[in-house]
Amino acid sequence: MVEPVVIVHGGAWAVPEILWDRSIAGVKTAALRGYKVLQEGGSVVDVAEAAVISLEDNPVFDAGTGSVLTFDEQVEMDAIIMNGATMEAGAVAAIRNIPNPVKVARLIMEKTPHVMLAGEGANKFASQYGINEVDKELLITPYAKEELAEYKKYTNTVYCLFNKTEHANPVGHDTVGCAVVDQKGHTACATSTGGITAKMPGRVGDSPIIGAGGYADDEVGAVSTTGCGEAIMKACLARHIVSVMGTGQDVVTAIKSGLNHMETRINGFGGAIAVSCKGDVGMQFSTPRMPWAYVRQGKLHYGIHPGQHIIEDL
Ligand code: GLY
Repeated sequence: MVEPVVIVHGGAWAVPEILWDRSIAGVKTAALRGYKVLQEGGSVVDVAEAAVISLEDNPVFDAGTGSVLTFDEQVEMDAIIMNGATMEAGAVAAIRNIPNPVKVARLIMEKTPHVMLAGEGANKFASQYGINEVDKELLITPYAKEELAEYKKYTNTVYCLFNKTEHANPVGHDTVGCAVVDQKGHTACATSTGGITAKMPGRVGDSPIIGAGGYADDEVGAVSTTGCGEAIMKACLARHIVSVMGTGQDVVTAIKSGLNHMETRINGFGGAIAVSCKGDVGMQFSTPRMPWAYVRQGKLHYGIHPGQHIIEDL
């Protein structure tokens, strides 16, 4: 029997101080929400979806409500969900103005023969299941508007290169995700994002790409990634991490390997959370911060700064 674990992240990047406390509270709430679904008999896919919905509904995170804005001030979001037992996956790209893209990703996985729908087609599909566009102002936070105004002062909006662009050490935050393993060793992951501030309209990042933004395979484990999508896609970061885990390496070593490869070969930065099918869990990030939390064996673990790992009894 495997010791179940639910881990979530609230996005790698600098994460300004004004967001620290609310980010920590948000990942704790989401991890507890996912674990409750598991305790109530939900599947690992139910858990991943519920945890990510909790994060999407929290305006502190760059996903769903709170998504960052495109250069032309639109809300365009990406998400993925993957079932490690069947390796079925669903993803949505550049969907507009809905609160919970992960719900649409799951519907695509379960109700269509496809893996990904994008743009207008994704919105049309969602509306067939009662998920209609909302007034975008309901999803846009004052912080997202301020961040867009800040980024517009700079020319390089693809901010992968820490301290190496004219926009050094950006204040941004990024993406949410969950990885879960249950008592039977079944795994799932989900990732959701508003992308990167001031992105070009129509730009799709790593989050909805299988093997980049997430990956789940019951033979090894599940991963959700965060960070610069342009780098994560080239590194196939989630698949890299699962591949290294598949050689017998522990979760943390595998994530470090993926992040190191991405930095040395692509000069890209980010973070990841992962669980193994045996119940190992870990998180790492190469950015200044990444809020994360997990529940395992009656304890809630969390942190946001490098090396920070706080444990609370439940
Ligand atoms: N990691 C999210 C993005 O780049 O879109």
